[in-house]
Amino acid sequence: MLCTRPHAAPQGHAARASRKAITRRLAAVAALALGAGAVGLAQKVVSVNEFDRAMKTIGTAFDGVKQAIASTSYVEAKTPLALSRQVLASSRPFWDAQQKPDAAKMARDAVAALDALDKALSAKAVDAAAVAAALAAATRACDACHTTEREGDQQTGYRIKSASR
Ligand code: HEC
Repeated sequence: MLCTRPHAAPQGHAARASRKAITRRLAAVAALALGAGAVGLAQKVVSVNEFDRAMKTIGTAFDGVKQAIASTSYVEAKTPLALSRQVLASSRPFWDAQQKPDAAKMARDAVAALDALDKALSAKAVDAAAVAAALAAATRACDACHTTEREGDQQTGYRIKSASR
């Protein structure tokens, strides 16, 4: 006789799958961190090229933060967050060199917002609402600078606003 019982998906499969995705993402972030170290990104970012690479690294790392938070993997979120923070902080001298104090201040504010997010993730009993609020504030801090200092889009590529050069 044929077995007609449907193969029920094992419970927790989705959770395991998303965990796997996070593990893969973290591995990518770790590789990025190595690459960043190799070209000295963790030091001072001063050239346009270095700045572009810094933002690409921050973007990938911050995606990892958002994904980990979305699946309530708060501890995992802290690794890519630390990388985002470090690279963002190292990008500030770029704005000093460009004599753009407003942008330098936005970079400082964004670093502070990432620190606040780290604090929320580090609470003994993590408060999901506090994490969500801190994540939204950090995203706003990123976008504040993108609105004034960035041009282009995903298709054509992002650039530093020409008027600000
Ligand atoms: C002080 C200004 C400033 C802050 C703060 C800032 N950015 Fe950017 N970002 C830029 C500028 C300018 C560009 C365009 C330059 C480029 O991509 O070469 C950019 C580009 C990017 C890109 C596109 C990279 C590419 O070329 O594909 C990503 C992704 C990105 N930022 C993510 C972030 C995230 C995430 C944060 C916050 C954690 C953040 N940025 C904070 C100024 C900023």
